[in-house]
Amino acid sequence: MSDELQTLITEEDIADRADRLAATISSDYADKGDLVLVGVLKGSFIFLADLARRLTIPHRIEFIAVTSYGDSESTDPGAVRLLMDVRHDIADQHVLVVEDIVDTGHTLAYLMKLLRARGPASLNACTLLRKPDRSEVDVDVAYLGFDIPDVWVVGYGLDFAERHRTLPSICVIPQPG
Ligand code: IMP
Ligand code: MG
Repeated sequence: MSDELQTLITEEDIADRADRLAATISSDYADKGDLVLVGVLKGSFIFLADLARRLTIPHRIEFIAVTSYGDSESTDPGAVRLLMDVRHDIADQHVLVVEDIVDTGHTLAYLMKLLRARGPASLNACTLLRKPDRSEVDVDVAYLGFDIPDVWVVGYGLDFAERHRTLPSICVIPQPG
């Protein structure tokens, strides 16, 4: 199985990007008090850990979990459902949503709307990856790692059917069908 995987982004390139993203975020949020990082489970767990440990500003970690409805569960292909909410009130807090990948954009658009309604002091998104060719909804990403082509990627937190999440690099998996 693993010999079918091709490296798209190396461990070193991810680390370099994480360094620069963390430096930019640290400078943008300097002197604003705690930054609340909201990691979107499960895919962002490794990126969030690496990004957060590079920040030089005070920050707190929250997690949120969502799922996209499968075609069998909904007639709306972009429908998103909340599985687990953050534990603390984010009103008047500076909030940064940390995502693994923005594909169609429906998941991030849903999350931004949900969190914005709670009155944060500011709300931005950071995503490691984005597939511009797949975009269906416009959603603002303040901090972007890499734009990638329309391929299925695994590793560094991302999965295919729950596999390959702990690969150190971002790899392309041939999509079945
Ligand atoms: P969106 O709502 O279409 O933007 O989908 C975002 C979610 O789909 C991501 O958070 C991932 O969970 C999943 N996803 C989209 N593309 C990929 C991929 O290439 N590899 C792994 N997961 C993906
Ligand atoms: Mg995700």
